[in-house]
Amino acid sequence: MDDIQLIDKKGKRKDSRGPEDLRPIKIEAGVLDNADGSAYIEWGKNKIIVGVYGPREMHQKHLQRPDKAIVQVSYSMASFSVDERKKPGQGRREHEISKIIAEALERSIISDQYPRTSIDVYIEVLEASAGTRCAGVTAASVAIADAGIPMIGMVASCAAGKINGQVVLDLDKLEDNIGDADLPVGYIPKTEEVVLLQMDGHFTPEEFDKAFVLARGACIQIQELQKEALVKKYSQEPEENGTDDNGENKDDMAEGGVLQ
Ligand code: CDP
Repeated sequence: MDDIQLIDKKGKRKDSRGPEDLRPIKIEAGVLDNADGSAYIEWGKNKIIVGVYGPREMHQKHLQRPDKAIVQVSYSMASFSVDERKKPGQGRREHEISKIIAEALERSIISDQYPRTSIDVYIEVLEASAGTRCAGVTAASVAIADAGIPMIGMVASCAAGKINGQVVLDLDKLEDNIGDADLPVGYIPKTEEVVLLQMDGHFTPEEFDKAFVLARGACIQIQELQKEALVKKYSQEPEENGTDDNGENKDDMAEGGVLQ
Protein backbone atom coordinates (compact mmCIF):
# COMPACT_ATOMS: atom_id res chain seq x y z
CA MET A 1 0.00 0.00 0.00
CA ASP A 2 1.66 3.17 -1.17
CA ASP A 3 -1.20 5.57 -0.41
CA ILE A 4 -0.55 5.73 3.36
CA GLN A 5 2.75 7.46 4.09
CA LEU A 6 4.59 5.41 6.73
CA ILE A 7 7.96 7.06 6.22
CA ASP A 8 8.55 10.73 5.44
CA LYS A 9 10.99 12.33 3.00
CA LYS A 10 13.63 12.60 5.73
CA GLY A 11 13.36 8.84 6.41
CA LYS A 12 11.45 9.28 9.69
CA ARG A 13 8.86 6.65 10.52
CA LYS A 14 5.55 7.28 12.34
CA ASP A 15 7.17 6.44 15.72
CA SER A 16 10.11 8.71 14.78
CA ARG A 17 12.55 5.84 14.20
CA GLY A 18 14.95 5.91 11.28
CA PRO A 19 14.80 3.11 8.66
CA GLU A 20 17.46 1.02 10.40
CA ASP A 21 16.37 1.54 14.01
CA LEU A 22 15.02 -1.15 16.33
CA ARG A 23 12.19 -0.53 18.75
CA PRO A 24 13.35 -0.40 22.42
CA ILE A 25 14.12 -3.88 23.78
CA LYS A 26 14.43 -5.06 27.40
CA ILE A 27 15.21 -8.64 28.39
CA GLU A 28 15.21 -10.15 31.85
CA ALA A 29 16.34 -13.71 32.67
CA GLY A 30 15.02 -15.97 35.45
CA VAL A 31 11.64 -14.41 36.15
CA LEU A 32 9.70 -17.57 37.10
CA ASP A 33 10.45 -19.63 40.22
CA ASN A 34 8.61 -22.75 39.08
CA ALA A 35 10.26 -23.12 35.68
CA ASP A 36 13.72 -24.60 35.04
CA GLY A 37 14.53 -21.51 32.98
CA SER A 38 12.61 -18.38 32.10
CA ALA A 39 12.80 -14.96 30.51
CA TYR A 40 10.69 -11.88 29.97
CA ILE A 41 11.00 -9.58 26.99
CA GLU A 42 9.55 -6.19 26.17
CA TRP A 43 10.11 -5.24 22.56
CA GLY A 44 8.31 -2.08 21.52
CA LYS A 45 4.78 -2.73 22.73
CA ASN A 46 5.22 -6.52 22.81
CA LYS A 47 5.31 -8.16 26.24
CA ILE A 48 6.18 -11.85 26.31
CA ILE A 49 7.07 -14.31 29.05
CA VAL A 50 8.76 -17.67 28.45
CA GLY A 51 9.03 -20.69 30.75
CA VAL A 52 11.25 -23.70 29.95
CA TYR A 53 10.83 -27.12 31.56
CA GLY A 54 13.26 -29.98 31.10
CA PRO A 55 15.00 -31.84 29.77
CA ARG A 56 12.38 -34.18 31.29
CA GLU A 57 11.06 -37.61 30.46
CA MET A 58 9.06 -37.61 27.25
CA HIS A 59 5.77 -39.14 28.27
CA GLN A 60 4.41 -39.74 24.77
CA LYS A 61 6.70 -42.67 24.03
CA HIS A 62 6.07 -42.62 20.28
CA LEU A 63 7.53 -39.09 20.13
CA GLN A 64 10.72 -40.04 22.04
CA ARG A 65 13.97 -39.95 20.13
CA PRO A 66 16.52 -42.57 21.23
CA ASP A 67 19.43 -40.33 20.21
CA LYS A 68 18.39 -36.86 21.42
CA ALA A 69 16.00 -34.58 23.27
CA ILE A 70 13.14 -33.08 21.32
CA VAL A 71 12.09 -29.46 21.66
CA GLN A 72 8.36 -28.84 22.03
CA VAL A 73 7.17 -25.25 21.77
CA SER A 74 3.81 -23.85 22.70
CA TYR A 75 3.40 -20.26 21.45
CA SER A 76 0.17 -18.71 22.60
CA MET A 77 -1.33 -15.26 22.54
CA ALA A 78 -3.56 -14.20 25.40
CA SER A 79 -7.08 -13.13 24.44
CA PHE A 80 -6.36 -9.68 25.86
CA SER A 81 -3.03 -9.31 24.04
CA VAL A 82 -4.50 -7.61 20.97
CA ASP A 83 -6.99 -4.79 20.34
CA GLU A 84 -9.69 -7.10 19.06
CA ARG A 85 -10.13 -9.95 21.58
CA LYS A 86 -8.44 -13.08 20.23
CA LYS A 87 -10.30 -16.38 20.38
CA PRO A 88 -8.68 -18.47 23.14
CA GLY A 89 -6.73 -21.59 22.19
CA GLN A 90 -4.29 -22.51 19.48
CA GLY A 91 -5.30 -21.77 15.92
CA ARG A 92 -3.35 -22.37 12.71
CA ARG A 93 -1.19 -19.30 13.26
CA GLU A 94 -0.10 -20.42 16.74
CA HIS A 95 0.68 -23.93 15.46
CA GLU A 96 2.79 -22.54 12.63
CA ILE A 97 4.71 -20.18 14.92
CA SER A 98 5.26 -22.93 17.54
CA LYS A 99 6.65 -25.22 14.85
CA ILE A 100 9.06 -22.75 13.28
CA ILE A 101 10.32 -21.63 16.71
CA ALA A 102 10.84 -25.27 17.78
CA GLU A 103 12.87 -25.92 14.62
CA ALA A 104 14.99 -22.80 15.22
CA LEU A 105 15.66 -23.64 18.88
CA GLU A 106 16.40 -27.28 18.12
CA ARG A 107 19.33 -26.18 15.97
CA SER A 108 20.79 -24.23 18.87
CA ILE A 109 20.64 -26.97 21.53
CA ILE A 110 23.16 -29.77 22.05
CA SER A 111 20.33 -32.28 22.32
CA ASP A 112 22.22 -35.58 22.03
CA GLN A 113 23.16 -35.36 25.71
CA TYR A 114 19.53 -35.97 26.68
CA PRO A 115 18.09 -38.91 24.71
CA ARG A 116 14.38 -39.78 25.16
CA THR A 117 13.61 -36.47 26.84
CA SER A 118 11.63 -33.39 26.00
CA ILE A 119 12.51 -29.74 26.45
CA ASP A 120 9.22 -27.89 26.76
CA VAL A 121 9.12 -24.20 25.93
CA TYR A 122 6.03 -22.14 26.72
CA ILE A 123 5.87 -18.74 25.04
CA GLU A 124 3.05 -16.62 26.42
CA VAL A 125 2.33 -13.39 24.56
CA LEU A 126 0.73 -10.95 27.01
CA GLU A 127 0.71 -7.97 24.65
CA ALA A 128 1.23 -8.27 20.91
CA SER A 129 2.28 -5.52 18.57
CA ALA A 130 4.00 -7.15 15.55
CA GLY A 131 7.16 -9.23 15.62
CA THR A 132 6.04 -11.57 18.40
CA ARG A 133 7.66 -14.62 16.79
CA CYS A 134 11.04 -12.83 16.75
CA ALA A 135 10.65 -11.56 20.30
CA GLY A 136 9.39 -15.00 21.39
CA VAL A 137 12.31 -16.96 19.99
CA THR A 138 14.79 -14.39 21.34
CA ALA A 139 13.36 -14.69 24.87
CA ALA A 140 13.04 -18.50 24.58
CA SER A 141 16.73 -18.80 23.83
CA VAL A 142 17.57 -16.81 26.97
CA ALA A 143 15.19 -19.02 28.98
CA ILE A 144 16.88 -22.18 27.63
CA ALA A 145 20.28 -20.82 28.61
CA ASP A 146 18.82 -19.89 32.02
CA ALA A 147 17.71 -23.55 32.40
CA GLY A 148 21.37 -24.56 32.01
CA ILE A 149 20.71 -26.55 28.84
CA PRO A 150 23.88 -26.78 26.73
CA MET A 151 23.70 -24.84 23.49
CA ILE A 152 25.98 -24.22 20.55
CA GLY A 153 24.89 -20.58 20.75
CA MET A 154 21.75 -18.56 21.45
CA VAL A 155 19.28 -17.70 18.69
CA ALA A 156 18.56 -14.01 18.25
CA SER A 157 15.77 -12.96 15.95
CA CYS A 158 14.55 -9.83 14.20
CA ALA A 159 12.55 -8.96 11.10
CA ALA A 160 13.16 -6.44 8.37
CA GLY A 161 10.37 -5.33 6.08
CA LYS A 162 9.29 -2.96 3.34
CA ILE A 163 7.10 0.11 3.77
CA ASN A 164 6.26 2.54 0.97
CA GLY A 165 8.73 0.63 -1.18
CA GLN A 166 11.60 1.15 1.25
CA VAL A 167 13.43 -1.55 3.22
CA VAL A 168 13.34 -0.88 6.98
CA LEU A 169 14.16 -2.75 10.18
CA ASP A 170 11.71 -4.16 12.74
CA LEU A 171 8.17 -3.30 11.59
CA ASP A 172 5.75 -2.06 14.22
CA LYS A 173 2.07 -2.98 14.21
CA LEU A 174 0.90 -0.29 11.78
CA GLU A 175 3.80 -0.96 9.42
CA ASP A 176 3.14 -4.70 9.61
CA ASN A 177 -0.57 -4.21 8.87
CA ILE A 178 -0.23 -1.95 5.85
CA GLY A 179 3.39 -2.43 4.79
CA ASP A 180 4.49 -4.31 1.66
CA ALA A 181 6.61 -7.15 3.06
CA ASP A 182 8.11 -8.69 6.19
CA LEU A 183 11.15 -10.96 6.61
CA PRO A 184 11.65 -12.52 10.05
CA VAL A 185 15.18 -13.90 10.52
CA GLY A 186 16.51 -16.12 13.34
CA TYR A 187 20.28 -16.27 13.57
CA ILE A 188 22.94 -17.89 15.75
CA PRO A 189 25.79 -15.35 15.68
CA LYS A 190 28.26 -17.83 17.16
CA THR A 191 27.95 -20.29 14.25
CA GLU A 192 26.67 -17.74 11.71
CA GLU A 193 23.74 -20.07 11.07
CA VAL A 194 20.32 -18.91 9.90
CA VAL A 195 17.74 -21.02 11.74
CA LEU A 196 14.54 -19.14 10.93
CA LEU A 197 13.63 -17.42 7.69
CA GLN A 198 10.15 -16.54 6.55
CA MET A 199 8.83 -14.07 4.04
CA ASP A 200 5.48 -12.37 3.79
CA GLY A 201 4.86 -10.09 0.78
CA HIS A 202 7.17 -9.33 -2.10
CA PHE A 203 10.81 -8.20 -2.26
CA THR A 204 12.96 -7.82 -5.35
CA PRO A 205 16.21 -9.87 -5.08
CA GLU A 206 18.09 -6.63 -4.21
CA GLU A 207 15.54 -5.67 -1.55
CA PHE A 208 15.66 -9.18 -0.13
CA ASP A 209 19.46 -9.00 0.23
CA LYS A 210 19.22 -5.60 1.89
CA ALA A 211 16.47 -6.72 4.29
CA PHE A 212 18.31 -9.92 5.17
CA VAL A 213 21.59 -8.12 5.93
CA LEU A 214 19.72 -5.54 8.03
CA ALA A 215 17.86 -8.19 10.05
CA ARG A 216 20.99 -10.30 10.55
CA GLY A 217 22.91 -7.24 11.78
CA ALA A 218 20.13 -6.54 14.28
CA CYS A 219 20.30 -10.16 15.50
CA ILE A 220 23.97 -9.63 16.36
CA GLN A 221 23.04 -6.49 18.31
CA ILE A 222 20.16 -8.31 20.09
CA GLN A 223 22.47 -11.17 21.07
CA GLU A 224 24.40 -8.72 23.24
CA LEU A 225 21.17 -7.88 25.11
CA GLN A 226 20.49 -11.59 25.62
CA LYS A 227 23.96 -12.07 27.08
CA GLU A 228 23.64 -9.00 29.30
CA ALA A 229 20.35 -10.33 30.72
CA LEU A 230 22.04 -13.63 31.65
CA VAL A 231 25.16 -11.95 33.02
CA LYS A 232 22.95 -9.72 35.12
CA LYS A 233 21.07 -12.64 36.62
CA TYR A 234 24.09 -14.84 37.24
CA SER A 235 26.30 -12.11 38.63
CA GLN A 236 23.77 -11.55 41.43
CA GLU A 237 23.96 -13.49 44.70
CA PRO A 238 20.69 -15.49 45.11
CA GLU A 239 19.59 -13.37 48.07
CA GLU A 240 20.21 -10.25 46.00
CA ASN A 241 17.58 -11.21 43.44
CA GLY A 242 14.84 -8.59 43.34
CA THR A 243 16.21 -6.45 46.12
CA ASP A 244 18.82 -3.76 46.42
CA ASP A 245 21.37 -3.34 49.23
CA ASN A 246 18.64 -1.96 51.47
CA GLY A 247 16.40 -4.94 50.84
CA GLU A 248 14.01 -2.86 48.74
CA ASN A 249 12.69 -3.89 45.35
CA LYS A 250 14.77 -2.51 42.56
CA ASP A 251 14.03 -2.00 38.91
CA ASP A 252 15.69 -5.08 37.45
CA MET A 253 14.95 -3.97 33.91
CA ALA A 254 16.77 -0.69 34.31
CA GLU A 255 20.26 -2.11 33.76
CA GLY A 256 21.42 -5.16 31.73
CA GLY A 257 19.66 -6.36 28.60
CA VAL A 258 18.20 -3.02 27.58
CA LEU A 259 18.23 -1.25 24.22
CA GLN A 260 16.58 2.16 24.19
O1 CDP B 1 3.60 -11.25 15.71
P1 CDP B 1 4.22 -11.65 14.40
O2 CDP B 1 4.60 -10.44 13.57
O3 CDP B 1 5.33 -12.63 14.54
O4 CDP B 1 3.10 -12.46 13.59
P2 CDP B 1 1.96 -11.96 12.58
O5 CDP B 1 1.08 -13.16 12.34
O6 CDP B 1 2.57 -11.30 11.41
O7 CDP B 1 1.11 -10.93 13.41
C1 CDP B 1 1.44 -9.57 13.43
C2 CDP B 1 0.65 -8.88 14.52
O8 CDP B 1 -0.73 -8.92 14.23
C3 CDP B 1 0.76 -9.54 15.89
O9 CDP B 1 1.98 -9.26 16.54
C4 CDP B 1 -0.44 -8.93 16.57
O10 CDP B 1 -0.13 -7.62 17.02
C5 CDP B 1 -1.45 -8.84 15.43
N1 CDP B 1 -2.44 -9.93 15.52
C6 CDP B 1 -3.73 -9.60 15.97
O11 CDP B 1 -4.00 -8.45 16.27
N2 CDP B 1 -4.66 -10.60 16.13
C7 CDP B 1 -4.36 -11.89 15.83
N3 CDP B 1 -5.28 -12.84 15.97
C8 CDP B 1 -3.07 -12.22 15.35
C9 CDP B 1 -2.14 -11.20 15.21
